[in-house]
Amino acid sequence: MKILIIGSKGMLGQALVKVFSAGNEVLAWDREEIDITEAQSSNIKIQNLRPDLVINAAAYNNVDGAETERELAQKINGYAVGYLSKTCKGLDIPLVHYSTDYVFDGTNRKGYKESDFPNPVSAYGESKFLGERELQKNTDKFYLIRLSRLFGKEAYIASAKKSFVNLMLDLAKNHAELEAVDEEISCPTHAVDVAERTRYIAESKPEFGIYHAANVGSATWFEFAAEIFKIKQIDVKLKPVPASRFPRPAMRPQHSVLLNTKLPPMRSWKEALKEFLISN
Ligand SMILES: NC(=O)c1ccc[n+]([C@@H]2O[C@H](COP(=O)([O-])OP(=O)(O)OC[C@H]3O[C@@H](n4cnc5c(N)ncnc54)[C@H](OP(=O)(O)O)[C@@H]3O)[C@@H](O)[C@H]2O)c1
Repeated sequence: MKILIIGSKGMLGQALVKVFSAGNEVLAWDREEIDITEAQSSNIKIQNLRPDLVINAAAYNNVDGAETERELAQKINGYAVGYLSKTCKGLDIPLVHYSTDYVFDGTNRKGYKESDFPNPVSAYGESKFLGERELQKNTDKFYLIRLSRLFGKEAYIASAKKSFVNLMLDLAKNHAELEAVDEEISCPTHAVDVAERTRYIAESKPEFGIYHAANVGSATWFEFAAEIFKIKQIDVKLKPVPASRFPRPAMRPQHSVLLNTKLPPMRSWKEALKEFLISN
């Protein structure tokens, strides 16, 4: 298959390129090759390429920044997804697109099924929900994959945010005591596992629609950090604190566990984290 991966330098994009490269012709595009907010030029570039499948891992991912850059977030996470959907519909090929647990308000302590209706509490969540609607409005051949709290190799780009895992490891180098928020329960998820799940979907071709791809189990930020230090055998005194200890511009869902009710379960986040930390 000829597969176009957009956002190929991002955390998920890199993993996708690696996983899909075995046995496929992969075109890895990032900002230098395409600006997905430019409808016309993107359409021409993708039409000329004639891929069999497009995977869009490009996104505006700054949850707090979106509160002040609302328009930019909506352009990249929302309207651009509509443009890509129209292009793929024109070529009669499927589009894989990613969304987030942050489309939910976090009040459902049992977790969220694929069919649950979003109700975002932040500008970032709203922009991703806009993308979900743009996708579903403009093509029927879509796989909308929601994921959460990604960890993996950081993006190649200069502007790359430090991942939570690296942030904790870096802080532990210079601090004997650290604080981490013991709220906001979600599923830490390995980028490679999302890429493998995407490959499974692309190859097994289940019904088009919404899928949840999160590692099994859930954790607060504190529990996530504690596991990182346990695996790396780093002796740091970690203190649980409420979210109010680190005020941030964007609201976060309190409990946004993604339930996968349609595909075989993924492995646990602790197992995936261990593999990631041991191999990096
Ligand atoms: N990271 C998480 O914890 C998380 C959680 C839930 C869902 N997700 C979703 O998972 C997907 C992948 O996230 P990620 O963390 O891998 O993202 P990432 O590391 O931020 O990478 C996104 C990539 O997209 C590129 N990009 C941004 N705007 C673009 C544009 N207009 N045209 C072309 N490329 C553009 C970025 O380039 P620049 O850096 O130059 O902008 C970057 O290389 C996204 O849909 C995201 O919303 C992520």
